[in-house]
Amino acid sequence: MIPPRLIFRKGSLKILDQRLLPAKVSYLTVKDAAGVAKATKDMALRGAPLIGCAAAFGFALELRRRCPASAKELERTALSTAGLLKAARPTAVALFYAADRMLAAARAFAAANPGRLDTAAKARLLAALDREARLVTEEDEAACLAMGLHGARLLPRGTVIMTHCNAGALATMGIGTAVGVITAAHAQKKIRHAYSCETRPYMQGARLTIWELMREGVPAELITDNMAAHIIKTCGVNAIVVGADRIAANGDTANKIGTYGLAVIARHHKVPFYVAAPTPTIDTRAPDGDSIVIEERSTDEVVRINNVCLAPKGVKARHPAFDVTPAALITAIITEKGVIAPVTRANIRKNLA
Ligand code: MRU
Repeated sequence: MIPPRLIFRKGSLKILDQRLLPAKVSYLTVKDAAGVAKATKDMALRGAPLIGCAAAFGFALELRRRCPASAKELERTALSTAGLLKAARPTAVALFYAADRMLAAARAFAAANPGRLDTAAKARLLAALDREARLVTEEDEAACLAMGLHGARLLPRGTVIMTHCNAGALATMGIGTAVGVITAAHAQKKIRHAYSCETRPYMQGARLTIWELMREGVPAELITDNMAAHIIKTCGVNAIVVGADRIAANGDTANKIGTYGLAVIARHHKVPFYVAAPTPTIDTRAPDGDSIVIEERSTDEVVRINNVCLAPKGVKARHPAFDVTPAALITAIITEKGVIAPVTRANIRKNLA
């Protein structure tokens, strides 16, 4: 079992500090939206759906702390809180989805309770926000289970599968998206072997995904990113599954840096390339991949590992944290509502309907 990622109690949120995994299971406690935003920015928690769930809780915490005295003040506080949370990281749309959902719940409450908020109204507001935040996380958990089953159906017995980054339980409130597909297929005895790419520079594959696969009893090996083409060519890999941070309306998919390269290799070797992501990952306002903002993170994360500098002093480096895989390279997108194949604008719209 993977330890709980978020533990929400009235007034505080405990966050599993993923920077310390797998060596240490340790929690940070935050009490407001700024704390959640900082933990997100600093990658104490990560993974698109989990960032969204934490933002929902962060929103509820902040409104509890600020306790607005009137509907007008509630609207103002809700808007600034959503803005603070959304500024934490730019690429994962789940963050924006969750913050907007909480904002909508707060606005609905303000509209139904104009004027001053008495003690009873405040209590109802806080209960409503806690409920909405819990709903966001319950929906994520259910979506993971559904994706696991839809995805497992696509895989034949004896599958040798590869994944990149961590789209597992640690990235969600459920069994994960891409890793959820692998573990669901493993439960159906369909997985012969799984490969986890280490995912330079942040090592989500080496620290998190392989740890999850081992804990779930999936026969798996860790490889460095630059081994992928060789392993795909020589080890019988017949499926690749990854998660997503944002999927544009035409199916272009932003995910952890390195995903695009893997999709190109998959196409060359005629290996099906699957993306597993819940529908809140689909950003219908982004017409295609060019409109997705790619987070640029500190180059320190590239030139240092565990605080040891690997490159010459004063080196210039780059650190785009995500890349965009064109829809044409994706065999199918697996959502909680089913399988989108071929990946076209029309099929995506049908899945969302
Ligand atoms: O930078 P991270 O670790 O937040 O990036 C995570 C990924 O890219 C995942 O593949 C994606 O968020 C999907 S998680 C179900």
